[in-house]
Amino acid sequence: MIAVLDFGSQYTHLITRRIRSLEVSAEIFETDVTPETLKTKGVSGIILSGGPNSVYDKNAPEFDKKILELGIPVLGVCYGHQLIAYVLDGEVKPGKSREYGEKILDVNDQNTPLLKGLEKKEQVWFSHGDQVTKLPQGFVSIASTDETETAAMANEEKKIYGIQFHPEVVHTLKGMKVLENFLFDICQQTKDWKIEDLKSKLIAEIKQTVGEKKVIIGVSGGVDSLVASELLREAIGDNLYCVFIDTGFMRKNEADEVTTLYRDLGFKNFVAVSSGPDFYKVLAGVVDPEQKRKTFSAEYFEIFDRTVGDLKQTEEIEFLAQGTIYPDRIEAAKTSKTAQVIKSHHNTSIPDKYRFQLVEPLKDLYKDEVRELGKELGIADSALKRHPFPGPGLLIRVLGEATVERLELLREADAIFIEELKSSGWYEKTWQAFAALLPIKSVGVMGDFRTYEYLLALRAVTSVDAMTADWARLPEDLLNKISKRITNEVRGVNRVVYDITQKPPATIEYE
Ligand code: XMP
Repeated sequence: MIAVLDFGSQYTHLITRRIRSLEVSAEIFETDVTPETLKTKGVSGIILSGGPNSVYDKNAPEFDKKILELGIPVLGVCYGHQLIAYVLDGEVKPGKSREYGEKILDVNDQNTPLLKGLEKKEQVWFSHGDQVTKLPQGFVSIASTDETETAAMANEEKKIYGIQFHPEVVHTLKGMKVLENFLFDICQQTKDWKIEDLKSKLIAEIKQTVGEKKVIIGVSGGVDSLVASELLREAIGDNLYCVFIDTGFMRKNEADEVTTLYRDLGFKNFVAVSSGPDFYKVLAGVVDPEQKRKTFSAEYFEIFDRTVGDLKQTEEIEFLAQGTIYPDRIEAAKTSKTAQVIKSHHNTSIPDKYRFQLVEPLKDLYKDEVRELGKELGIADSALKRHPFPGPGLLIRVLGEATVERLELLREADAIFIEELKSSGWYEKTWQAFAALLPIKSVGVMGDFRTYEYLLALRAVTSVDAMTADWARLPEDLLNKISKRITNEVRGVNRVVYDITQKPPATIEYE
């Protein structure tokens, strides 16, 4: 097992995720973990993560430097690299120009164990302003860039390494090779992690937490809540109650499809609540994106509460389960002292009044891991490969006020877009695709008539984990066909545009 000490980088979790993809178990520890704990846990390697601080900051996170004397290999990444240099009496200084983003790494020695298998020049990704300017005793520089002598350093005798770049992000093209070298060659770690193990571990944890008690889960038809509910069902059987609220902001035919999906999978206690009119009423006149999200969320929980209240008259329910996954937590909540809130995801901000105990079996997983787990649970591919769909649904894709009339336009256009993506084979090649109705009209001509109708945006993105995304290069012919179908078949839309913005700076959703 590999221990990852979390110094506050938003990528810390990604390091453990990458390690798991190499079939090795990894666990995140606070920075004040003691050397004894790490030893007792039997870790074979320790990674010190990146972090936003400078080692000279007043409140810069530290660690017990005796960890470096355990005889267990250590790899410092970015801030972790600088910290090793700092605590071992090297020197760290702000770089001349701050080195952010993609950089070319010059590998000094291609046979050095950590960088074995890399070319002389490699693309890597930097995300910190400071640099190691003097090596600690016993260390040599094993890679540099045009701006820093020590982009990577090694003390082979003690098996302590530092790298200024992030091996865990996809922009470091050979990042996985560096991790592999560290895990398998340097730490001599064997493969000790499999998806089947994860399934049994999560089921055992649920059983342990929940026992014979009853659990309720709000489901949306999306992959996360589906996998979470199937996992719970395997763990506690009919003590699970699923509540599906049709918010009126679902896609075309979706509410029926979700009900059928759960019934076919054999969920016994499945309650569907049709609440469109309630949502439309409270959202009338609301235009501000955050206000829309918050109003939606309040209404959702009110209806959820009523449904739970009804159920509670006959059942004693003590736990509330959620399909929250790791990226939800990082964008919607503070996962560490340094993370920032981007959007308030309604499904991660449960009101305090709920006295339920929370069960979130997927909270440390990424989407692709959830899909893999779903497969292991025997869920059909068609359900697992569905694109992510936000809790507030089409509400945040009808920009401005989501009137029923505008919502209906969007629903029809979206259905055409998705149908064409599926039939052309592009649905599976994209992470997410949808239509958004903009709050403006433009002039057009149809037959001999002037039209003044809505502008519709199509968005299709590729992504690994929704943290960053690129616009999908859909073929021109396909875009042309979709645009024609939408303007012909959806009365009220006379212009279609394709969104070519990456995330960042845009987000995937429009609100
Ligand atoms: P953004 O728009 O922040 O979205 O780039 C990243 C991913 O999160 C989804 N998303 C949500 N999912 N509840 C959810 O369950 C929400 O409130 C929500 N808002 C955005 C979005 O669809 C994308 O996959």
